[in-house]
Amino acid sequence: MNDREREGSPQLAEGRLKDKIALITGGGTGIGAATAFLFAKEGASVMITGLAEAPLKKVVSDIHLHGGIAAYAIQDVSRETDWKEVVSTLANQFGRIDVLVNNAGITGNLHAPLADRTVDEFMQVLSTNIIGAFLGIKTVVPYMQPGAAIVNVSSIAGITGNAGGNAYTASKGGSRMLSKGAAIELSKSGIRVNSIHPGYVETPMVQNMQNASSFREMAIGSTPMGRGASPEELASGILFLASKESSFMTGAELIMDGGFTAF
Ligand SMILES: NC(=O)c1ccc[n+]([C@@H]2O[C@H](COP(=O)([O-])OP(=O)(O)OC[C@H]3O[C@@H](n4cnc5c(N)ncnc54)[C@H](O)[C@@H]3O)[C@@H](O)[C@H]2O)c1
Repeated sequence: MNDREREGSPQLAEGRLKDKIALITGGGTGIGAATAFLFAKEGASVMITGLAEAPLKKVVSDIHLHGGIAAYAIQDVSRETDWKEVVSTLANQFGRIDVLVNNAGITGNLHAPLADRTVDEFMQVLSTNIIGAFLGIKTVVPYMQPGAAIVNVSSIAGITGNAGGNAYTASKGGSRMLSKGAAIELSKSGIRVNSIHPGYVETPMVQNMQNASSFREMAIGSTPMGRGASPEELASGILFLASKESSFMTGAELIMDGGFTAF
């Protein structure tokens, strides 16, 4: 959501996440930022994390401006020590965490034949996208109570394969299956785990790519609805999975892709 749209937003009010404590990774930009704003609007106290301070600070001040509750912390999701620090700060303050959104992610090179990839480059994508989500679940679950929810932001790349983006595809397929395994295990504790699978979304991730305009053309050309999603459209799906409206869903995949995978 841009500043102009936020200015037109009604004052934040209690709602579908009233009194919930939510942790959103990669919350300074794109889908994470839109989700933070929507969660706060729906009554949650929101902690957003990420690598760079300026965008996190901006999102938090936007939320404060609209009467919501938010804070930020610098965190690299691939580092277990960072997770321990963030989660203990939140747990010390609130005693529990109700919602975890594992949203932080990177694409890596989307045009590298497998044979040309280095192990380091492949590992960097896996460390952020899949180890990050694993560490999130591992660290946060001890502070969750029955009724809590975890949402892993995967991708249509976790549903269908594509040439060149093999590290990203492997990581997003991993995120999808990590969700299902965790869902089964954690169902005994009353914690739900679901994945969401965006198609092309207009965010810095795709806007800052080297070949952004040809990638956009290709992605939108393969999308039956003929457009990309806004981050806010994805945030509404994440809100659904985080709220009790999806109380009988766990281990499920919510695909929001304008029909991309319908072929
Ligand atoms: N934009 C799309 O078309 C699209 C499509 C499918 C899935 N997704 C997924 O949506 C999620 C959000 O991406 P986005 O599109 O909003 O892009 P984005 O680049 O705006 O957001 C990703 C965020 O993750 C943060 N991040 C990256 N590495 C990190 C790390 N190691 N530790 C902590 N934070 C880190 C970035 O700083 C950024 O704020 C990602 O998991 C992405 O793979 C995006």
